[in-house]
Amino acid sequence: PYRIAVLASGRGSNLQAILDAITTGRLDAQVAGVFSDRPAAPALERARAARIPAFAAEPRDFGSRDAHEAELFGHVARAEPDLVVCAGYMRLIGAATVEAWTGRMVNIHPSLLPAFKGLHTHRQALQAGVAEHGCSVHYVTAELDGGPVVSQARVPVLPGDDEPALAARVLGREHPLLVATLRLLVSRRVQLGPSGVLLDGEPLAAPLRL
Ligand code: GAR
Repeated sequence: PYRIAVLASGRGSNLQAILDAITTGRLDAQVAGVFSDRPAAPALERARAARIPAFAAEPRDFGSRDAHEAELFGHVARAEPDLVVCAGYMRLIGAATVEAWTGRMVNIHPSLLPAFKGLHTHRQALQAGVAEHGCSVHYVTAELDGGPVVSQARVPVLPGDDEPALAARVLGREHPLLVATLRLLVSRRVQLGPSGVLLDGEPLAAPLRL
């Protein structure tokens, strides 16, 4: 089966959405391992509960950023994944690692990229006063949250929204967006071509709305 490695730093609700989709037959894949920079991440508990290998390496136990990343991604590589999914992995990934996994690593980001890269995306959206917000799945490249976007889901920003309310509305769309996008990746209908995302071999004019 198609092998997915998941990188997660925290709660792991996106990981859980993947696991549930596999269990219920909506995603024809296997999670080969879950990898974290935080030993206490609830995502690791979710992995263990599903009998999936879970590994954590804490940055402070290593002499450098690169050494930590080499250890973590060494474990990822040994899981022999077809795809690496960053699902709430909250660390920057260095250029050499990104390069090694180009076209085989995606990230889910809680904004309609290219708007609101980086952290605190819901706060950014509220401060900007946009009427629409959402989430994106994109290929990971060396530019932070800047790789080719595969798919997006939109939500309205409503009067009276605060950060938690908006975050919850977006998260509710992240889970189905991630699963639907993974279905396209697993079936190899979506691939990264030399100049962007391909769907059934044809360049994608705009992100898929899923
Ligand atoms: C999700 O909202 C995800 O989009 C975001 O972190 C959350 C993780 O939730 N990712 C980023 O902000 C990446 N920069 P989860 O642990 O419950 O899946």
